[in-house]
Amino acid sequence: MVVILGLEGTAWNLSAALVTEDRVIHEVESPYRPLHGGIHPREAAQHHAAELKRVVSQLIEKAQDARFSICDIDGVAFSQGPGLGPCLRTVATAARALALALNVPLIGVNHCIAHIEIGRWRCGTEDPVVLYVSGANSQVLTYHTGRYRIIGETLDIGIGNALDKFARYVGLKHPGGPKVEELAAQGTRYIHLPYVVKGMDFSFTGLTTAAKDAVDAGNSLADVCYSFQETAFAMLTEVTERAMAYCGKDEMLLAGGVGANRRLQQMLHTMCTDRGARFFVPESKYLKDNGAMIAYLGLLQLRTGQTLPIEDSAVRPNFRPDEVEVKWR
Ligand code: ATP
Ligand code: FE2
Repeated sequence: MVVILGLEGTAWNLSAALVTEDRVIHEVESPYRPLHGGIHPREAAQHHAAELKRVVSQLIEKAQDARFSICDIDGVAFSQGPGLGPCLRTVATAARALALALNVPLIGVNHCIAHIEIGRWRCGTEDPVVLYVSGANSQVLTYHTGRYRIIGETLDIGIGNALDKFARYVGLKHPGGPKVEELAAQGTRYIHLPYVVKGMDFSFTGLTTAAKDAVDAGNSLADVCYSFQETAFAMLTEVTERAMAYCGKDEMLLAGGVGANRRLQQMLHTMCTDRGARFFVPESKYLKDNGAMIAYLGLLQLRTGQTLPIEDSAVRPNFRPDEVEVKWR
């Protein structure tokens, strides 16, 4: 049995988990919640630095209840990127120290691919088209000849970021995505907002500005939230559907924090049903940033020998998923 310790802390959630081939042994997290405004990279990194010892110690303690000891750990995985530089560096430092102290391999993983692989694992989908939607990222991807290929992506900000920016503007606390979802459920009137799909890519900044303007113009907040979601999610669904048609694939996987949104799930589910495809979405705790996904991808990479010498373990804030050679599929 292989046991991997995974550390995640690319942005708001510091999380550590122990994973083995068939299950998540345990996970401990410490979310950073800004008092006002959005995520401040340095403050988030300070939060992670202050919490790392407690989170890892608690994980080891809890794992002992499940009869695992620190000596059982076969590798330490961490998010090498993409993410916020100060956060990445803080968590990478901890991962290097742990790998050296335990004398086990260090495994650097791509955060986006970790979102995908935990979804495939938990849902049992073999070869899906993936819609990965989070704060900083929005991409449509699929596996083809040794890599996850990005078929479409945002031309500016991620959908989560767009929702958070809009929410902040109207006085809602970060993270705004879930609050917009609640308000949207009370909206009844569709207000026209810019629908921007260019080829297989999409863009959200114009939509965000127009939604702010619509609130300033006196429209009800619930109606604007409703219209924001309908427009943005229709854009994402359109591109995902086209990707499925192009690739001839009949499975679809939703990944990333925004995937928790019920309306987005519903639209994708309808689209998949209409074309005779299967729609997969993991439990919410595996959609948002979590240590288990890092540990799990670390486990896959350890098997294929994709580990990192300490001297090559610098973080990669702009690490793209298609840079990774996928040897485990
Ligand atoms: P990444 O590094 O992959 O971009 P992230 O740091 O943005 O990840 P995630 O946990 O994957 O972290 O996603 C967080 C985002 O998800 C936030 O923008 C948040 O507002 C959004 N979100 C969470 N729940 C919902 C929801 N129910 N509806 C819409 N957005 C949501
Ligand atoms: Fe993420």
